[in-house]
Amino acid sequence: MNIKKNFRFILPVGALLLAAVAWAGSPQILLSPGSGPSTASFASINKVFTGDWQQYGQLFTTWQGGLFNRIFLLVLTIVPTVFLLHYIIIGAKSFSHAGTPIKFFGILTRFLHWLAALSFSLLVITGLMVVFGKFLGGGALIMSGRSVHLIAAIVFCLSAAGLFLIWLKDMLPMPHDILWLFIMGGYLSKKKKPIPAGKFNAGQKIWFWLATIGGGVMAWSGYNLYSFAAPTDQLRQMAILHNFLAAGLVGFFIIHLYMSLFAIKGSLASMITGYKSPEEVEILHSRYKI
Ligand code: HEM
Repeated sequence: MNIKKNFRFILPVGALLLAAVAWAGSPQILLSPGSGPSTASFASINKVFTGDWQQYGQLFTTWQGGLFNRIFLLVLTIVPTVFLLHYIIIGAKSFSHAGTPIKFFGILTRFLHWLAALSFSLLVITGLMVVFGKFLGGGALIMSGRSVHLIAAIVFCLSAAGLFLIWLKDMLPMPHDILWLFIMGGYLSKKKKPIPAGKFNAGQKIWFWLATIGGGVMAWSGYNLYSFAAPTDQLRQMAILHNFLAAGLVGFFIIHLYMSLFAIKGSLASMITGYKSPEEVEILHSRYKI
């Protein structure tokens, strides 16, 4: 873990982390209106968002009433379908395991990654439960999902902040990333040709920045929605921002799952053991200096 190299980044992010912990410590967050698992409290939250609808209320009501559901449904159907087609037509890339395996992910990185993976997965599931709450009958089920959402958000913020510190330098954009984007990382061909990428390719970097910085914006807007710590119209804007960013994050999360579980044979093992095969590094990370 190259903490020495990233020291000047540690202080500000460390401060952020402390702020997140302080936030997490504020009990009021759990006492926000509607904390009880009852349809009445669910209705009270809705009333705040849809009442006085002249301002963002009208926009929010229209979107909450249907557009958000449709956007999530589109993401949950189109993204997996595209990658299912990729898997059928192009298939997975596999690499020989000859030679000395290369250390790629340290133990702290893997621990923080799986903590982020678990908490984020819970965030996605409980977030979708809230979006489709009406179809799931609302009430206690959705309200307990909301509480799980809160706790998972705190765990995700802490683990993602740690990953941000560790991977920051390797995730900075490089000129060869443009080339990678042009050839879509070589994933539209079955050939195994050296790909212009360092430790992480342009696609992995996009996911990193979306998950960490995007995750931070989700936490901030989510905290305001939970604690009602803003005027109604701002809360509506936050709800709209939270929903749209969530749709983008869910889409990229599905791509991350496909890339790490299906598109590259041995990728999952690398996040468990920490090692990658020399051929995989040579081909997929040809600019990476070991
Ligand atoms: C159940 C969910 C997840 C699984 C199965 C998973 C799996 C993996 C695997 C196997 C790798 C290694 C990829 C490689 O180098 O070959 C990886 C890398 C990575 N994961 Fe995850 N991950 C999950 C969730 C997450 C979440 C929620 C985040 C958000 C912070 C995340 C962020 C990353 C990043 C930034 C990398 C390095 C770049 C990349 O490969 O995209 N992962 N993940």
